[in-house]
Amino acid sequence: MNPRSIPLAAMLLVTAMCTATDAQNRPGLSLRETFDLYVRSIQRSDIDALFSTVTDEPRVTFLTSAGRLIDSREGYYQFHQEWFKEAGWEMPVELLEVREGADYGSTLAIFHYRQKQPDGRVQALDSYFTLIFHKEHDMWKVVTDVCTPIERYTMEPDSGVKYTTDQLYLLDTVKNRRTVRKYKPMPVPKDHLLAILDAARYAPTAGNQQPWTFLVIQDRARLDRLEGEAVEWYLERDKSQATRDEAALQKLRQSLQEQITNALSAPVYVAVLVDSTSAYPEYVMTDGALAAENLMLAARALGYGTGFFTTFFPEARMRAFFQIPDRYKLVCFTPIGVPEEWPTTPEKKGLETLVVYESFRK
Ligand SMILES: Cc1cc2nc3c(=O)[nH]c(=O)nc-3n(C[C@H](O)[C@H](O)[C@H](O)COP(=O)(O)O)c2cc1C
Repeated sequence: MNPRSIPLAAMLLVTAMCTATDAQNRPGLSLRETFDLYVRSIQRSDIDALFSTVTDEPRVTFLTSAGRLIDSREGYYQFHQEWFKEAGWEMPVELLEVREGADYGSTLAIFHYRQKQPDGRVQALDSYFTLIFHKEHDMWKVVTDVCTPIERYTMEPDSGVKYTTDQLYLLDTVKNRRTVRKYKPMPVPKDHLLAILDAARYAPTAGNQQPWTFLVIQDRARLDRLEGEAVEWYLERDKSQATRDEAALQKLRQSLQEQITNALSAPVYVAVLVDSTSAYPEYVMTDGALAAENLMLAARALGYGTGFFTTFFPEARMRAFFQIPDRYKLVCFTPIGVPEEWPTTPEKKGLETLVVYESFRK
């Protein structure tokens, strides 16, 4: 049944229609009255009243809206006990159907669960819920509770603008991408790597030239050689060495070695290259950076860290090391791997300091 096909007037808002006045179930209550008591008990987080409407038998079948099966009265009790500790939620209910038989009965309803989040947004879950009741000692008691989610979304409190879970996930993925500078040795499955590279090629490019080549490096021996060389490359460029004594130099080398070892601890690296002979050479670096961002976001969506590495991997040296043809430019060298730990978000400028609307002219 589609709730949207039911005229609004026919929807019974249980909150406004509570007929059972006692806070506990008692012999003689109709199925509808028992249902009202059940719902009202949840809305008040009154676990004793709620469980006066639940079977006394040890077995209750509960399929949660998250798809979990809870198959005991104790589990059903614990679920509600945990839930009722939470604050800032409400759950109006629409009753759609009541079927009352001699010993068994059922109700079909929709709940509209709303919970305020710490960021002020409201998380919403609309779900069907079907209750099956059994008559015990002349009282209707819930034996089965099946929740079937209709829609989950998040709402802006003032405008009521909705975000689906998918939309929020995408926005969160963008925000949760981090530059990761140390990795676990866990491999990246080939299909994940291909999915990440595939996402990279959907980036926009000037004139749709797609001037990329993604050089993928997974050979540990090659990466270890690169590590040794990268330390030397850096030291060669570091002019401060001339003024350092032997101890300071030793310290610098050690710190550098550690940073480069960590930077090269991932199982996969991608050198994002762009073809400078493309039709729009002035834009190839931009094209490359956009592909790199796509790659990094796709990797984040699959649980991997990345980094837009440049400093330790200068273009001329990388060209010689990997025998990169002259026509390619190196945009960045990015690891893909499971982070040793996810770094906290570095300070980001506030939106208000970055956005100008319409014109700079006041
Ligand atoms: C053009 C560019 C060059 C970068 N070069 C390096 C680099 O050589 N080494 C490094 O560790 N991170 C490098 N980064 C990553 C930045 O340090 C990082 O993005 C910034 O600190 C913000 O952190 P976040 O990426 O976790 O948000 C570079 C980023 C960009 C866009």
